[in-house]
Amino acid sequence: MEILSNYFDIHKKYDPMFEAEGIEELSDIDWIMVEVTGKKRSQLPLCGSFSTKQTIAIENALKERLRHIPLGLIFGKSEFYGRKFIVSNKVLIPRMDTEILIDKSIKSISNKSKTQVAPVMVLDVGTGSGAIAITLQLETGANVTAVDISADALHVAKENAKSLGANVCFIQSNLFEKLKGKKFDAIISNPPYIETEVIKELDKEVKDNEPHLALDGGADGLDFYRKIISEAPNYLNSAGEIIFEIGFTQAERVSQFLQSDFEEIEVIKDFGGNDRVVSARLRRKL
Ligand SMILES: C[S@@+](CC[C@H](N)C(=O)[O-])C[C@H]1O[C@@H](n2cnc3c(N)ncnc32)[C@H](O)[C@@H]1O
Repeated sequence: MEILSNYFDIHKKYDPMFEAEGIEELSDIDWIMVEVTGKKRSQLPLCGSFSTKQTIAIENALKERLRHIPLGLIFGKSEFYGRKFIVSNKVLIPRMDTEILIDKSIKSISNKSKTQVAPVMVLDVGTGSGAIAITLQLETGANVTAVDISADALHVAKENAKSLGANVCFIQSNLFEKLKGKKFDAIISNPPYIETEVIKELDKEVKDNEPHLALDGGADGLDFYRKIISEAPNYLNSAGEIIFEIGFTQAERVSQFLQSDFEEIEVIKDFGGNDRVVSARLRRKL
């Protein structure tokens, strides 16, 4: 039996179901059709009926989305900085906001590569899917090391590096534990920064599908900033930089932590006008 449907049939059936489930991202219905059919979003209303096979695949994916599974996990991939990354429930799905951290890091690395002959050494702390480390390696050609405490996350990150052709050194390490004696020109991190008590209030998509190891920043959400900032001076070259993604309420506290050993502290906002990145330079010794 043929089961045919078109763009409008799908929306007529699934828009109310998404609304009843409290899923606001109705655009995900379009993205599922894009992924299954390979068509551009703008072509969907014009392309007539989908084949039976496509209709079944679209409906299966929509049913998963109705169970609050994020799009990235339904298809096992997610786009970041123009590249497709493999994702699983063992890693944080890379977020668009993190592209602000990438833009700032690329600028810093490019400036350094103009003033030093040696390759720019970069460390990504808490690499997850490898999105930051791999993007920076491919965009700048820097020498990139990436650590994560999770062996499962590193497995995904290595797969991504292989499929995207990036040359990154991945190390399983609790923060700096396995990096004794190494020095970097820039330490970059999007650490876990959600307050422990807030995790249970997050959307089901996040709290039920993404690893809490990637989210939980301790009682005030700032544990990783404190730890990384206190240890970073031992792992930075002279005038080395530290660049963090932060939660939008955390700029002031993170800037305070940085004041002991860092200077030129800068806060950068995201596209929504929220504080999103804090960067600073290791204070030169007098
Ligand atoms: C917010 S996620 C960021 C993932 C990725 N860098 C991104 O931006 O999409 C934080 C990552 O830190 C890792 N992590 C948590 N505790 C850690 C620790 N003590 N040492 C190293 N990595 C840790 C988690 O496994 C997770 O992959």
